[in-house]
Amino acid sequence: MRILVLGSGAREHAIVAALHSERAHSIVTAPGNPGIATESEVIRLDVNNPSLVTDFAKDENFELVVIGPEAPLVAGVADALREAGIPVFGPSKAAAEIEGSKTFAKDVMSRAGVPTGGARLAATLEEAAAAIDEFGAPYVVKADGLASGKGVMVTESREDALIHAEHWLAAGPVLVEEFLDGQEVSQFVFSDGVNVRALPPAQDFKRLLAGDEGPNTGGMGAYTPVPFLNDRFGGERAFSKLIVDQVAKPVVDEMRAAGTPFAGLLYCGLIVTTAGIRVIEFNARFGDPETQAVLERLDQPLSELLYASATGTLGHLPEELAIADNAAVTIVLASEGYPEDVQSGRTISGVPDALAEPNVKVLQAATTERDDDTLVTSGGRILNVVGTGATIAEARAFAYQGLSRIHIDGAQYRADIAELAAREQQS
Ligand code: AMP
Ligand code: GLY
Repeated sequence: MRILVLGSGAREHAIVAALHSERAHSIVTAPGNPGIATESEVIRLDVNNPSLVTDFAKDENFELVVIGPEAPLVAGVADALREAGIPVFGPSKAAAEIEGSKTFAKDVMSRAGVPTGGARLAATLEEAAAAIDEFGAPYVVKADGLASGKGVMVTESREDALIHAEHWLAAGPVLVEEFLDGQEVSQFVFSDGVNVRALPPAQDFKRLLAGDEGPNTGGMGAYTPVPFLNDRFGGERAFSKLIVDQVAKPVVDEMRAAGTPFAGLLYCGLIVTTAGIRVIEFNARFGDPETQAVLERLDQPLSELLYASATGTLGHLPEELAIADNAAVTIVLASEGYPEDVQSGRTISGVPDALAEPNVKVLQAATTERDDDTLVTSGGRILNVVGTGATIAEARAFAYQGLSRIHIDGAQYRADIAELAAREQQS
């Protein structure tokens, strides 16, 4: 197949690597990065411009366009491609609101009967204060729209909660939510608008520092499988089935009924509380960095799933995806100063040495090549090192071994990614 992939991060590198490994496609990525350029052609293209992307896809006879990040979705790129009759993996602008607007997501969930925490929409500081006092500590206050991960505050301090509310009220109403106590799990589900197929669950690490300390980030690592689901839910397949039945299918059905069918990847962000599972958020795209781990366990061609989701034919594929009984761990290497004050332009050395280690992949994100071909950093989360193995312990050992071969001045990573899970799996 001739496939165009949009995006430039480690998530897109993982998608391209999976497609490339099928040895059956001609792949072009825009704008890509130097790592992606080793596994596909890369071109410059404004991926957030619907007509430019559509004209290019038409002229170049692409049979499938895969949209990685949310920005092109929100810009309506999928709508323009669909209108032109080009199969596209990614929802319409209207359906992507499930990620872009937390009140839209809450409305869909309430109509679909999907379990989520209590929430109040506050348009004034008085309303926010009333909701904050209604739910009690810890307080959860969220900006309603896309806020680059900065819109959510979870705090024990009533004063900080009110300051956060006041700050975001300047941009529109804020959401005050019931605090949900428990472990987070990410469940990815393919949808063609009607049918759904679940990938294995994964867990990511949002805080910068070991022990879940420090500021929130775009994600510092991820792993799959998630052993704590075994005792409670009878294994990961049973868990995924539960999420399909109670969350993904009802949401997909409700969105189709509302005239905004969701075709693409529905990311269900969940908290497992003592009272049961609760949705904290949806994303309209693959998660980053979970995808870098999850795709390592997919034991069937990714292209088939993307194409079937794009063409309404997911129902023709077996109900359960072929998932390997192995483990994958991904570790994010981030720049000095990340996330507040990112230092860029540092030389990256050792990537070939890392790639020479067994069971290691290096997926690039914020990297660029200087004129003399030196690889340098160009942003906060520079690259991911992914290890795979029979167990989580093995996978993480490979990942950290690969990481040890890479050097970037001042770069930071978490040394405790999947440490607890590896122990849980062993016991
Ligand atoms: P969100 O952008 O909605 O995914 O929120 C970012 C992070 O804040 C989540 O990954 C959780 O760690 C935390 N969080 C969000 N909502 C809640 C909630 N209602 N209760 C507890 N933690 C939450
Ligand atoms: N891993 C969190 C996200 O992709 O939003």
